[in-house]
Amino acid sequence: MRYQHTKLFTFFLIFPNKLIKKNNSVIKLAKEKIIVTSALPYANGKIHLGHLSGAYLPADIYVRYKRLNGDDIIYVCGSDEHGVPITISADKEKVSPQVIIDRYHEANKKTFARFGMSFDNYSRTSLPIHHETAKEFFLDFYNRGLFVEHKSLQFYDEKAKMFLPDRYVEGTCPKCGNEQARSDECEVCGALYEPSELINPVSKVSGERPVLKETSHWYFPLGKYQPALEKYIDEMNKKYGWKENVLQYCRGWFKDGLKERAITRDLDWGIKVPIDSAAGKVIYVWFEAVLGYISSTKELSQLKNDPDLWKRYWQDPKTKYIAFIGKDNVVFHAIIFPAILMAWNEGDKDPDRIGAGQYCLPQNVPANEFLNFEGKKFSKSRNWGIDVDEFLDLFAPDLLRYSLAANLPETRDTDFYWKEFQLRNNSELADILGNFINRTFTFVFKHFDGKVPALFKLEKIDEDMLKEISEYPKRVADLFEKYKIRDGVNEIMNLARAGNKYFNDTEPWKTIKSNRERCSTTLNVCLQAIYTLAELFSPVLPFSTEKLFTMLNSKPVDWKDCGKPQLKANHQLNQAEILFPKIEDEKIDAQINKLGSSKVEEVKKEELISYDDFMKIQLRVAEVIGAENVPKSEKLLKLKVRLDNEERQVVAGIAKSYQPENLIGKKIVLVANLQPAKLMGLESQGMILAVETNDGGLQVLNVTETVNNGTRVK
Ligand code: MF3
Ligand code: ZN
Repeated sequence: MRYQHTKLFTFFLIFPNKLIKKNNSVIKLAKEKIIVTSALPYANGKIHLGHLSGAYLPADIYVRYKRLNGDDIIYVCGSDEHGVPITISADKEKVSPQVIIDRYHEANKKTFARFGMSFDNYSRTSLPIHHETAKEFFLDFYNRGLFVEHKSLQFYDEKAKMFLPDRYVEGTCPKCGNEQARSDECEVCGALYEPSELINPVSKVSGERPVLKETSHWYFPLGKYQPALEKYIDEMNKKYGWKENVLQYCRGWFKDGLKERAITRDLDWGIKVPIDSAAGKVIYVWFEAVLGYISSTKELSQLKNDPDLWKRYWQDPKTKYIAFIGKDNVVFHAIIFPAILMAWNEGDKDPDRIGAGQYCLPQNVPANEFLNFEGKKFSKSRNWGIDVDEFLDLFAPDLLRYSLAANLPETRDTDFYWKEFQLRNNSELADILGNFINRTFTFVFKHFDGKVPALFKLEKIDEDMLKEISEYPKRVADLFEKYKIRDGVNEIMNLARAGNKYFNDTEPWKTIKSNRERCSTTLNVCLQAIYTLAELFSPVLPFSTEKLFTMLNSKPVDWKDCGKPQLKANHQLNQAEILFPKIEDEKIDAQINKLGSSKVEEVKKEELISYDDFMKIQLRVAEVIGAENVPKSEKLLKLKVRLDNEERQVVAGIAKSYQPENLIGKKIVLVANLQPAKLMGLESQGMILAVETNDGGLQVLNVTETVNNGTRVK
C-alpha cells in the first residue's frame, strides 16, 4: 500500500530497498511482507481456463510483480483433497478417493507449472502436516468451549444406509426456486438453509426420497463474530479499497444475519474429528481447507529447513495477506476464514492458553467473476471448453497468459473466444510488441553490429519518449497495487504502441543515411523502451521475456528502476529470435469446429422411462391472466394462470427473462399434476415449461391463442 500513504510513498520512492546500517551490519529493507494465496482447487478434476482467470493468473502476475518490487513475499497454494466433491468423483469411477486425489493432484501441479505459475509451494490437504493443523484448530476451539453441540435432522438414505452429505441430495431451493439446489446451499442464489427446508429432496445415491434422521454435530458460532467481522471488513475497505463485488456479497450475508455453522459431517473421507465420541465424523471440508494455506506454508518451512518460516509470515501483525479467489468462494474467505482466525486470536485472552500466536487476517480478497467460453459456461459433458494441457500442447503458455490477462473477469463475467485469442496474439503480441522488438533488433544488427548505439544530442521527441518510458513502471504498479491486473496489462501494451510510433516518427531508415548520430540516438531510445517492456511484461509473459532478456544480454532490475535507461552504449546484444509467430486461421478454425461436437451422451437404459410413466405427467395448456414480480427475488415471478375451469398460482424463475406485463395473454404449457411447493413463502401449484436460450436466458414454451385452455399436451 505504499502508494496510498503519502509519507511512506515518498520515502520508498526515494529510498527503495534502502540500505541501512544497524549494529554494524548492512540490512536490506524489504518494503512489504506479504502472503499471497490462491484458492486450493479440488483434486477431483482438471483445472480449466476459468480457474486460471479467476484465482491463479492474476495472483501469479501480482506476485511476480511484487518480487521484482523487492517485497518479501511468499505465494502458497495446493490441492483441496477432502469433501464431498472428491467422494462423488470416486463413486462415479468406482475407485477410492485416494486414487482420485493422487491423479489430479499430480496432474494439476504439472499443468500449473507448464502454465508458469510460480508458487513457492503447492501442497495438498491430505498431508499429515495439514491434518495436524486442522485438528489443532478444532481441538483448541473445542477445549475452549467455543463450539455448540446440536442434535439435528439430517437426510439419511435408508436404502444405501448412509447419511447423505449436502451434495448427495438435490431438491428445490426454498429461497429462489432453483430445482438443482443442494441440501443446505443453493449455488444459484447463494442461500444457506437447514436441510429440512429443502423442497422435494431426492437422494443422488439411490434416487429415493431420503428421510430425516437425528445426528449430532458441532457448530461454530459464526453469528457471534458478526459485529467484529463487519468492523473488520469496513476498516479493510476504508484502508485498502475492497472490490465492490466482494463488498456486496458480504453485505448480503450480514443483512441476512450470520448463523452458527455445523463444522462436522457424517462421512468417511476427510479429517477425523479428534474426539473419542465422534466416530464416523469428519471436520467439514471448508473449515479445514482454508487452513490449508497455513499448512502449505508449514510444509514450505520444512522444505526450506527453516522451521519458523511460517510463523514469521502468518503471525507477524505487519504481514499483508492477500487471498485471490473466484466469486463462489467469497463467503469462505471474507467471512468464515477471518472468523476462524479471530476465534484463534482471541484464545490468548484465555489464561490457560497463551503464546499460541496471533494470525493475520486477509487484508484484501480480490475475488474475480467467472470466465465463460464462447458465450456459454464451460462444460465437460457438452465438450464445451478446452483442457489447459491440450491448450498448452498447441500454443505457448505466454499466449494463453496474455489473452487471459488482457480480459480478466475482474468486474464482470467475461468470455474466452478462440478468434479473440488469435487476434490478441496476431495483432497485439506479434504486430505491436513483437514487431517493435524485431524491427529494432534487425536494424541494430544490420547497422550497429548488434551493439547498443550511443545517445547523442536529445531532441524533444526523444526526451518525451524517455519521459514516457520512465513513467510506466509506476503507472502499471499503481494498477497492480489495486488488483486491476487487466488494466495494468493493457497499459503495458501501450508502451509498445508508443515505441512503434516513435520508431515510425524518427525514421531511422532515413537518418542512417543522412545523420548517423541521430539514428544512433533514436535506436538507443528504442532499446531502452524494449528493456522496460521486457521487465514490465515479465510477470505476464515470463517465458518470452526470459528470452527477451537473453536477447538484450541483460537482467531485470528493481521494478521502479526499469524505466530509467539501463543499457549502456556499446553493450553487446544477442541475435533476435521471433518471439510471437502468427497463428494461422486453420489452427483456430480446427478448435472451433471441435466444440460441442463429440460426446453426445447416450441415454442409458436405466434412465429410459415407460410410456405409462410419461403419461403420468399431465402437461396442459394454460393462459396467463396475471403476473407480478415477487418482492426481494430477482428470479421469481408470481403468475396466475387459467386452465379450463380453474385458476392456479404458479411461481416461476423467469423474472430475468420476462417483464410481467409481457406474459399476460400468453398460452403456456403447465405441468398440472405436480405436488404444490412453497417458494419464498408463496405456494406454487404447478410448473411452466421453458427452454434455456443460447445467452443463458429462459424462453417460455407457448402455443397459439386458438388452443383451448386446459388442453392436454401429448
Ligand atoms: N476447493 C474449493 C473450490 O474449488 C476452494 C477451496 S479454497 C480453500 O471451490 F481456501 F478453502 F482452500
Ligand atoms: Zn436458491
